[in-house]
Amino acid sequence: MTLLELRDVTKRYALGRLERVALRAVSLDVHPGELVAVWGLRRSGRSTLLRVAAGIEQPDEGVVRFDGRDLGGRGPGPLGSALGFCSTRFDQAHGTTVLDHVAIGRIARGAGRNAARSAASGVLERVGAGHCMGFDPRELEPAEAIRAGIARALVTEPRLLVLDEPTSGVDLLERDALLELLRSLADDGIAVLAAVGEAVGGADRMLAIGDGQLRGETVPEHAPVVPLRPRRAEPSA
Ligand SMILES: Nc1ncnc2c1ncn2[C@@H]1O[C@H](COP(=O)(O)OP(=O)(O)OP(=O)(O)O)[C@@H](O)[C@H]1O
Ligand SMILES: [Mg+2]
Repeated sequence: MTLLELRDVTKRYALGRLERVALRAVSLDVHPGELVAVWGLRRSGRSTLLRVAAGIEQPDEGVVRFDGRDLGGRGPGPLGSALGFCSTRFDQAHGTTVLDHVAIGRIARGAGRNAARSAASGVLERVGAGHCMGFDPRELEPAEAIRAGIARALVTEPRLLVLDEPTSGVDLLERDALLELLRSLADDGIAVLAAVGEAVGGADRMLAIGDGQLRGETVPEHAPVVPLRPRRAEPSA
């Protein structure tokens, strides 16, 4: 079953009197339980692809369907419920805790405060950021902020998670642990579409994008990401 479907999607932006084509006839399918990574150079069109895939922006040509439904259709779309979007960083929120900030997504869907907090606490634990619940979001380390952002997107129990550069600005150990988290979310049945800046392990498919066009697809060996571990000190003789 295809959960997310893009067909011949083209997206243009006006640049003064000029026009910039950010996506050119992009087609792709994402299935439940799949981790699909889109990688490319800077300005290759990754973020635009994700915004259009999440229904944040509409394509100029082509169609985007989520669960068979046109994302450009009338009525409330799945964004913020069955479709979770996470941009590069957890939003800077003033005067609240990480727990409450994550809970907001659930409150916006009609949950009471206690139920929303309980759901937020569950997803923060799930993504390995349970220790951050009481923090001010501005205190978070980069990797914690990414995990909290993922928790915020997960709190509405989405079937598709769209993430823009979830491994940027973190060291190699943290990057591999984050990839391992994305892999485990996909293994739980969530479809994950993530833009990355480099080839990564653990994805089911890697799509290369260049100048707004999908250039190729690699199917890496389906192996779990093995996080790098610091080497043990050699025992002294
Ligand atoms: N809102 C916008 N208005 C005008 N041009 C845009 C807009 N968003 C993207 N573009 C242009 O579309 C192209 C693709 O940009 P996009 O941000 O999708 O690429 P990216 O691969 O995510 O790049 P980055 O390395 O900046 O993250 C670029 O040339 C960019 O300038
Ligand atoms: Mg980008």
